[in-house]
Amino acid sequence: MASHVNSALPENAQIGDYRIVRKISSGGFSIVYLAQDSAGGLVAIKEYMPAALARRGEGELTPRILPEHLNTYRVGLKCFFEEGRTLASIYHPNIVRVLNFFRANETVYMVMSYESGRSLQEHVVRNRSKDQKDVLSERFIRRVFVQVMNGLREVHSSRLLHLDVKPANIYLRMDGTPILLDFGAARQTLQRDISKTYPMYTPGYAAPELYRRDAELGPWTDVYSVGGCIYTCMSGLSPQEADKRVREDRVRATLRGFRGIYSNALISLVESCLALNSLERPQTVYAVQKELLTNVMEFPEFTVTERAVAKMRAMYEKISRLVGRK
Ligand SMILES: Nc1ncnc2c1ncn2[C@@H]1O[C@H](COP(=O)(O)OP(=O)(O)O)[C@@H](O)[C@H]1O
Ligand SMILES: [Mg+2]
Repeated sequence: MASHVNSALPENAQIGDYRIVRKISSGGFSIVYLAQDSAGGLVAIKEYMPAALARRGEGELTPRILPEHLNTYRVGLKCFFEEGRTLASIYHPNIVRVLNFFRANETVYMVMSYESGRSLQEHVVRNRSKDQKDVLSERFIRRVFVQVMNGLREVHSSRLLHLDVKPANIYLRMDGTPILLDFGAARQTLQRDISKTYPMYTPGYAAPELYRRDAELGPWTDVYSVGGCIYTCMSGLSPQEADKRVREDRVRATLRGFRGIYSNALISLVESCLALNSLERPQTVYAVQKELLTNVMEFPEFTVTERAVAKMRAMYEKISRLVGRK
């Protein structure tokens, strides 16, 4: 990751028709703010600010771009702008709503409707500390991911790939509806130029083809990440990184350990989404969605033995925790 952090815009800074209220989050590529429009309505504004290429000090508005990075900065800026344009044309309940995007301060701003809620990542973290076998229930997983798939289908039908689907980029509104955030188009192009200094994709959720330059990316690349997200909802952890799995795969064994806790249908679905060979995965998001909708069990299909094993495993884990081994 980049070694320095850029300063966020100060409170009350006026950007176009919007007034900054506070910073919500900052990542390697952008800073997200809570802001107010001219009518006083709340919006979220994402500012293109790649930490590896731009420098902005306290109280400044315009970043300074190191001359050797100017080209890459401009290419990224163009992609961020394009991402905004594409997203602005998508109107879907499971995709973050882009209201406006504009240039100012030699960078780009993407204005989104402000959503109150929390990311799936935060939701997992909150739930994994609870003393239960399943981090998130099968019912929750199926409900949420059927909707995430709706959003992703819309993205793919706009000839766009997300390429950074992960629990931190799935946001749960207060009413429980998930929305997809953070589209990776800008990153994809940036990666080509600065990948040596900048690890772009999120380990664990990135399909193996993202590690290779010549591989063909497609809906199946996002399908891998969806498998990774469901895996996290089950285990509370990110999956092992794809390049390490090629050498020694631990994901399959972990998934088998969920028998009796989740239905075999859901476990098999995750296993197939996480296939290292992209041809062995469901090729479309629709195929994943169909599985999520069809094999719903009121009660998971476990045998008496599987249930007993699951119970013993839970008890063992409880005891291990009590004696401080975990
Ligand atoms: N429209 C929004 N409403 C509310 N919070 C948002 C919105 N968009 C982003 N955020 C918050 O900002 C965080 C980072 O946004 P994201 O688009 O994922 O950017 P990054 O490139 O920094 O990961 C999200 O996890 C979420 O907490
Ligand atoms: Mg993000």
